[in-house]
Amino acid sequence: MIPITDSLQAGVCMKVKNITRPIGVFDSGIGGISVLAELIEWMPNERFIYFGDTQNAPYGVRSKKEVKDLAIEACSYLLERNVKAIVVACNTATSVSINELRKKFPIPIVGMEPALKPAADASNEGKILVMATPITLKENKFLELVDSYSGKREIEMISAPKLVDLVESNVLEGQELEEELLACLGDLSEKGVEAIVLGCTHFVFLDDTIKKLYGDVNIVDGNKGTARHLMNLLMGRNMLNQDPIDEVEIDICTSSSNPETVEMFKLLLKSRIEKLMNKRQKQETDKELEKRIIEEIRLAFLDNRKLTEMDKKLISYRYGIQRDKITQVARIARELNMPKAKVEIFMEKAEKKLFNIIKDRI
Ligand code: DGL
Repeated sequence: MIPITDSLQAGVCMKVKNITRPIGVFDSGIGGISVLAELIEWMPNERFIYFGDTQNAPYGVRSKKEVKDLAIEACSYLLERNVKAIVVACNTATSVSINELRKKFPIPIVGMEPALKPAADASNEGKILVMATPITLKENKFLELVDSYSGKREIEMISAPKLVDLVESNVLEGQELEEELLACLGDLSEKGVEAIVLGCTHFVFLDDTIKKLYGDVNIVDGNKGTARHLMNLLMGRNMLNQDPIDEVEIDICTSSSNPETVEMFKLLLKSRIEKLMNKRQKQETDKELEKRIIEEIRLAFLDNRKLTEMDKKLISYRYGIQRDKITQVARIARELNMPKAKVEIFMEKAEKKLFNIIKDRI
């Protein structure tokens, strides 16, 4: 395997030592680019080498042995490139090879598995639908995970290899994709589906089209959890580069002989990073709003109008302001050393004030 390399900083990655060594990331093809974007978001001081095994994609319909061998080959390549850790940005490769990779290679290796836990933790009812490749869905590792939740939640597994092909061909929107998604997922409200777990990194690129087709369904992927896990792991081993770097160095490689593949990876990476940044900015704005609301609540002790249940439902629904945010207000009240009875009055007023602040925007 001789990957075509498009080095944004040719040679740099080979020379650097210790904690400044790059992090290797690989997938069967394009899907891991969504993971790479999240890793860059979380660890902007790191260098990265991405390897997309496009020539051999898709992995999900191959034999276990083939996928294991390809994963070993990809990791050997990344190790030759002097990486300090590897992210197997592929649920399929993780499910069949992670134990062996960890035994074989002397650096931290982080894998991915369908994010069933966060999807189940986010609520208590409704069906959870897991979309993944045929291999991932058949592996014991995943079946054990499903077993641990199946008593509590209804879980449906959807094998969607054709969607992998579409994403691999950079079809991320449009009629063909929508038709295939509808054929795979069916009528979600009829099935009572509350959350969709994207158990294949390729599918993370389908989030907007899924939202377009199914509106409010909760879409969960494992990218954030993986990035957080790697960051904690590197931090715990003193391997996280904390010195700011001027520009993130990313070396994108592929086993494909088509020079356009790297260009496509770069474009997708760029748009994914922009998307994550916009989301973060939005979250910051929400945080600021929350801060302002809490600040106003602190000042609001005089008004007596009670919120009706309907008011609260509207607030929750339109603004996603959940009970726990109101609980936060209670915590602040406690921090202000108010006696319990006073906290209760404060809470009532806090809820009322909260409503007053945002009712004009409903
Ligand atoms: N992106 C990979 C995953 O997360 C698999 C896609 C493929 O079949 O190659 O499972």
